[in-house]
Amino acid sequence: MRLILLGPPGAGKGTQAKMLKEKFRVPQISTGDILRQAVKDDTELGVQAKAFMDSGQLVPDDVVIGLIEERIKQADCETGFILDGFPRTIIQAEKLAETLTEMNIAIDTVVDMEVNAEEVVSRLTGRSTCSDCGVMFHEESRPPKVPGVCDGCGGHLAQRQDDNRETILKRLEVYQESTSPLKEFYKKQGNLKTVAAGGSVEEIFSRVCEMVR
Ligand code: AP5
Repeated sequence: MRLILLGPPGAGKGTQAKMLKEKFRVPQISTGDILRQAVKDDTELGVQAKAFMDSGQLVPDDVVIGLIEERIKQADCETGFILDGFPRTIIQAEKLAETLTEMNIAIDTVVDMEVNAEEVVSRLTGRSTCSDCGVMFHEESRPPKVPGVCDGCGGHLAQRQDDNRETILKRLEVYQESTSPLKEFYKKQGNLKTVAAGGSVEEIFSRVCEMVR
């Protein structure tokens, strides 16, 4: 399975990717997670990316393209992968297509997750993530048993730096301008499938599974 999850911030790409990864036993590759880890570790990449991420802008194409090229060539991607948050621009999509052609492989399905802006703001302002194991919670749809504490590992739950209303609106604007043209790009290639990403996590998961099996 070689899958791309496309959709605005808060569409539930990360949530669905984690469930798909378990079901289909292929790695989830999230450029957002890779970049956030680099920021946390204070690496050169993290220093380069932080200001873009905090302001809701995209990190430059050459930086993320390099990351992905290296990652999909690793042995655990031989049986497939789920791209979560990549590509996000036409240049990234074109570069990905070139790399996959060189590797003699192709993307099977691009799932476009559609959700409205109001729902996005509510999902993201209520999100918290475990700083230790990365599990996500939401104050209404998936509250932790003890506020601020991860149900699974007891780690500290933190809000993402870019999950404030102002930055969320900026991220939505950037999505419309730079990422939504990818729908047309993949439609032309014949592998775009659109899923309504409203409703419960489980309902959306069964819709996505129908599309990718
Ligand atoms: P990234 O980490 O990719 O963030 P994003 O695309 O903005 O997406 P999110 O992670 O916010 O949302 P999601 O769709 O994964 O939703 P989730 O499942 O978490 O990117 C962050 C930044 O990194 C970018 O702004 C950019 O600067 C940089 N970057 C990353 N990739 C890049 C690239 N390729 N090029 C350039 N720059 C790049 O769910 C959200 C919340 O909703 C959670 O609390 C969850 O529990 C809840 N939820 C999920 N589903 C449901 C549901 N069905 N009902 C109710 N609540 C739900």
